[in-house]
Amino acid sequence: MKKRAAMSERIVHLLEKDSAGMLNVLGRMSDMLVGFRYEGKPSFGKNVKKAKSMLRLLNQEWAQHAWFEEKILFPFIGVHLPKLESMILVLKADHLDFKKVTRQLRSLLNRMSAMNSVSRYGEWIQQVNESGTYLIYFLRHHLEARKEGIEKIIESELRENEKKELASRIKRLGGLRPGVPKKIFGRRYVER
Ligand SMILES: [Fe+2]
Repeated sequence: MKKRAAMSERIVHLLEKDSAGMLNVLGRMSDMLVGFRYEGKPSFGKNVKKAKSMLRLLNQEWAQHAWFEEKILFPFIGVHLPKLESMILVLKADHLDFKKVTRQLRSLLNRMSAMNSVSRYGEWIQQVNESGTYLIYFLRHHLEARKEGIEKIIESELRENEKKELASRIKRLGGLRPGVPKKIFGRRYVER
């Protein structure tokens, strides 16, 4: 029984490692939105720059996350827990929607830095706030859906030898993670 709990904890730990980078960036993005609202016009240029680099970081984390799931986690689950197929389809659809969800914030920030003017400050801040808040909500919800819909079932329904195999696959292939893949199975997840 103790051994069973230890292997479940190991899987949870490995999956948490996958989400940790993105959750960290999302926390920093929340702070960034607060900065936009309260630091005012003098920090406008600095905050736009910060937001753009945060979005780049988020792209990298997201690409690694999508690669991990589509290359390692989902194929394994597809074989061992076929009842989770529809859940996997939903999560894969989110992966494809990521580009759409980030596009609005990206183009807004590009327009803001190109204009380099604070004449429409109030309007900019409102739009950044809306699309940034939606992006953060979308990604947190995606990670939470995996936790609730997949991780709990892995814990309760996979056999010990299957958990062991999954853990060793994550360690082996996760260690070979190829930097930041721009394309995953021929589909583009991140903007250049
Ligand atoms: Fe995902």
